[in-house]
Amino acid sequence: MKNTLVRIASLIIMVVSFIAFVAKAPAFPIPSENLLPWSVWFMISLLVNIVVWFPVMKLVSFALGVIWFYAFIAGLVPDTSTASGTVTTLDWTDPDAVAEIGLAIFNGKGQCAACHTLDTSAPKGRCPDLTDIGINAANRVPGTDAKTYLIESLYDPGKYLVTGYGKIMPEVWKNPIALTKLEIEAVIAFLQSQGGEIDPNPFDEPIDRAKAETTAEALPPLLSGDPEAGKKVFIEAACISCHEVTGLENPKAGEANEDFEVVTAPELTEIAALNSMRYIEESILKPNAEIVPGYGTVKIKAKGIIYEGTLVSRDDEKILVRTKAADGTEEEHTILLSDIDEEPIEDLANLIENGYFTLTLTPTGSDTSVSGEIVEETDTSVTLKVGDETQTLSKVDTDLKKQLAAVIFDGGDILGEVVSGTLDDIEIVVIVDGSEESYDPSFDFDEATLALGFGRKLLVKSPMPDNFPILLSVSDMANLLAYLSTLTGVTATEETASTEAVEEVTE
Ligand code: HEC
Ligand code: HEC
Repeated sequence: MKNTLVRIASLIIMVVSFIAFVAKAPAFPIPSENLLPWSVWFMISLLVNIVVWFPVMKLVSFALGVIWFYAFIAGLVPDTSTASGTVTTLDWTDPDAVAEIGLAIFNGKGQCAACHTLDTSAPKGRCPDLTDIGINAANRVPGTDAKTYLIESLYDPGKYLVTGYGKIMPEVWKNPIALTKLEIEAVIAFLQSQGGEIDPNPFDEPIDRAKAETTAEALPPLLSGDPEAGKKVFIEAACISCHEVTGLENPKAGEANEDFEVVTAPELTEIAALNSMRYIEESILKPNAEIVPGYGTVKIKAKGIIYEGTLVSRDDEKILVRTKAADGTEEEHTILLSDIDEEPIEDLANLIENGYFTLTLTPTGSDTSVSGEIVEETDTSVTLKVGDETQTLSKVDTDLKKQLAAVIFDGGDILGEVVSGTLDDIEIVVIVDGSEESYDPSFDFDEATLALGFGRKLLVKSPMPDNFPILLSVSDMANLLAYLSTLTGVTATEETASTEAVEEVTE
């Protein structure tokens, strides 16, 4: 009788503890201390059951024990779902747990660990070590806080390059890595946890995913080519007249080129070690798409003086332009952006693409003009930063007052609001200094523009010729890229370096 009671009690305890274990119930009796978790209760009752019951029940208990054992082992293996990229929510009440998920993505789907180390003693490779990036991020770009910098590093890594490193980091939100917004949030939490504080506040993605997918134009696939033939193209297509490559002679050194002006250009000895082949291909096909800082050229007018030369540097307030006089002497000029002269603009399409950064418009029905820095632009409107506020204005010409900007035959500028007429009419009436004046455009002006607005612009162009896509045949281009892919700065193991690099091009 007494035995039966013990048997039944231990059977009940075993079943209850098994269910509690599977249901992940808090420990009993002191849950906060995790004292005696249900796995322990189950173990004890299992042993008692095996001892006290008759053979059939011993076997049933044992079977239950085996099931429990598998469940227990499975519970010890961490959840790998984050590494395979299915983050659906982030629990910001526990920022450290979010950083853990970020770490799994860092090592897994994000492929960050393929390039970055988290160990200052690791040999300096092609990519910066990210130890203490949580604090260092605050000091990278003046005026940019740590979180903004990290966001930019992931969405637009080419915008700011860490000194000494090339442009090879992929935009991790795009294919093939394609991190989701939540995954990037987790990665940023992890990066912040490296020496800094995790900021759980949400941020807006600085990109438009929908748009990027439709406009991302596919470059033609990289073809496999012959590096030796490519070296000839490099010399014959005169790349070598501007670009130096250690160990490669320029047979026409010192000779003037008829097709273009020879300029200082980046050395390409290590180009393939520092950049992706896609970037290198784009540099040749579309030199203006991405200009190496310090090499672009500009032509601006500031306080009436025209400066044409190399844009050495630029910040929020000023630019440094290097000009070269006819006799070869070089001079550097610091020019405040606010000193650049406003130019009349006839066509308000693609302002940003054309280099405009400030704009002055006068809406119809208003007597005062609005002017400010251009923040955003669409086909039909433009948003300006006016003082501390932003203001969105229509670009549609009927919504704007036209202004006449003209140089009169006998000298002097006239500038006034157009009351009636166009430059094609025989009469145009303009308000100049408060009174209406009428002019005959075909006689009275030397030069005239009917402006919809005025703006300052800084258009940076690459001095590299942009006609290589026409000059080079498809096979020349493939060979040229195969050659450039061997330029990794490695000379000792040249043989292996070149074969490996050709494979990369074939991919
Ligand atoms: C193909 C190699 C590559 C991959 C993959 C890569 N990066 Fe980078 N990353 C670089 C290089 C090179 C730089 C330095 C040049 C630059 O600033 O873009 C860099 C810069 C950074 C910086 C700025 C570092 C600093 O010291 O200011 C951060 C942060 C960063 N990467 C994070 C990541 C994260 C997170 C991932 C994964 C989601 C990742 N990277 C994937 C190559 C890579
Ligand atoms: C008239 C001089 C000139 C010629 C000729 C020229 N380039 Fe360039 N190239 C430049 C300048 C200047 C830059 C830097 C500005 C820029 O990014 O466009 C540049 C940039 C590049 C870059 C990017 C370098 C970097 O560090 O990111 C590559 C790659 C390149 N050129 C390859 C070539 C190849 C290949 C040819 C021959 C088919 C060639 N260039 C012909 C002037 C020239």
